[in-house]
Amino acid sequence: MNIGFLASGRGSNMQSVIDACASERLHARPCVVISNNSQSGAIERAKNENMPYRHLSSVTHPDPAHLDCAIRDALVQYQTDLVVLAGYMKKLGPQTLSRFGGRIVNIHPALLPNFGGAGMYGIRVHRAVLASGATESGATVHLVNAEYDQGPVLAQRRVPVLPDDSPESLARRVLEQEHLLLVETLEGIIRGRIILPKP
Ligand code: GRF
Repeated sequence: MNIGFLASGRGSNMQSVIDACASERLHARPCVVISNNSQSGAIERAKNENMPYRHLSSVTHPDPAHLDCAIRDALVQYQTDLVVLAGYMKKLGPQTLSRFGGRIVNIHPALLPNFGGAGMYGIRVHRAVLASGATESGATVHLVNAEYDQGPVLAQRRVPVLPDDSPESLARRVLEQEHLLLVETLEGIIRGRIILPKP
């Protein structure tokens, strides 16, 4: 199975998957990294791993329809079977969604359906969790559709919210679980324990 990544930032979730492929825990091959941010850690990691990478964004493709086609074509070119959004901050367009429908997963740093949707990303998620008084948070892997954070949930891991947590300390605790959850969910997909919908 060839895994193509879309990532906007640091790329630590992507790295956990790359490492799991290298150690052969995952019987998969990372095939391409696409980032909307030419300065992202994700692109640096792709360079370090000698992986193909593309910077595709509103800078390279000002027309959203062209950008959508360019993302789809890059994923197709590298024979992507499964698309992993690993900290990708943009919506996918209809061409990419229809070509890879049911084969795109995202990782989100909270227990969806809570604390998701437009504007709920990064440290804002953890601030909202703390402000709500929730005693538990966690990470979710879900299928991607045209709306932010709304596709069916595939798997979750939970963490406690501690009384003296800051958004940053909660983010660190959740991120550790994200790395584990993303790899174990992909393992479940590859081994057939998690069944994706038919295209
Ligand atoms: C993670 O918290 C992920 O859940 C969210 O964006 C963050 C990306 O972190 N979608 P990294 O780039 O994988 O380190």
